[in-house]
Amino acid sequence: MKTAITGANGQLGTDLMQFLCGDVVGLTHSDVDICDRESIRRMLHELRPQRVINAAAYNKVDLAEQEPEVAYQVNALGPRNLALECEAINAILVHVSTDYVFGRDDSRLMPYSETEPPAPLSAYGVSKLAGEQFVQSLCSRHFVIRTCGVYGHAARAGAGKGNFVETMIRLGSELNELKIVNDQFCTPTSSAELAEAISALTDTRDFGLYHFTNEGSTTWYDFACEIFQQMNMDVTVEPISASNYSAAARRPGFSLLDSTRFEAATGLTINNWRKALATYLKERSSMLAMTSEQLTAS
Ligand SMILES: NC(=O)c1ccc[n+]([C@@H]2O[C@H](COP(=O)([O-])OP(=O)(O)OC[C@H]3O[C@@H](n4cnc5c(N)ncnc54)[C@H](OP(=O)(O)O)[C@@H]3O)[C@@H](O)[C@H]2O)c1
Repeated sequence: MKTAITGANGQLGTDLMQFLCGDVVGLTHSDVDICDRESIRRMLHELRPQRVINAAAYNKVDLAEQEPEVAYQVNALGPRNLALECEAINAILVHVSTDYVFGRDDSRLMPYSETEPPAPLSAYGVSKLAGEQFVQSLCSRHFVIRTCGVYGHAARAGAGKGNFVETMIRLGSELNELKIVNDQFCTPTSSAELAEAISALTDTRDFGLYHFTNEGSTTWYDFACEIFQQMNMDVTVEPISASNYSAAARRPGFSLLDSTRFEAATGLTINNWRKALATYLKERSSMLAMTSEQLTAS
């Protein structure tokens, strides 16, 4: 199947490019701006893919509060353009969204299923929800996949806004002590495992809305502690409340996603987030060793 991937050098885009087999065309931001309807139309009519995976997004959650119109352009009108043009060429559109479409329910303790009504707290969450809705209403053959806390190797090459794992490793090597929020729950998700999940799900042709994250849950504080433990880094981490950390955007205290529907559709068993993190850190160390060997050799 011929596949076009937008946002091809972001975290997920890079892993999709590595994971998908066959005729795959990667489109970076400089190849095509998803906000430009005419460029999207020309590109898709020329390439004629059977499947388009949109990994392009505006992910700067705090900055989106200052420039909500930019977030809306990329996260809502971009997917709208893709949905209209995929429908015109009868292509499948795969669009990726976020757990931040949920979060208004402060007393929530159960992961959200796909049937529950979203209620975002931030401009970013609103823009991503609008993008989902455009895809669902304008492209008949679509998959919308919500995920959470994505980290991938491309962040080290400067992709998108970076990721929590790389930020912790950098901060942990610069500072002796860190304060990390311990009252917001998340499921860290490896972009490599998300790429594999997207491939398996889209092969089913069982179109619709899905949740996919690695298995289990944690807080950002516990996630940071696990990163330092697995990296053998000696860093003191102090748990704090989100109310003591001044961020521009409100974030959900609880927005865990239930991936049961994904597992039923694909028959796949999802790895626990700690195991996925261990795989990422092992690959990271091999990649860095290889880069340093290449530098020594040149
Ligand atoms: N990262 C997370 O923690 C997280 C959590 C939940 C859901 N998600 C969702 O998962 C998906 C993949 O995220 P990710 O972490 O892989 O993102 P990422 O690393 O930030 O990559 C986003 C990519 O989109 C490109 N892009 C931005 N604006 C564009 C435009 N107007 N036209 C074309 N390309 C554009 C960026 O290129 P430039 O950098 O060159 O602009 C970048 O390559 C997104 O839908 C995101 O919302 C992510």
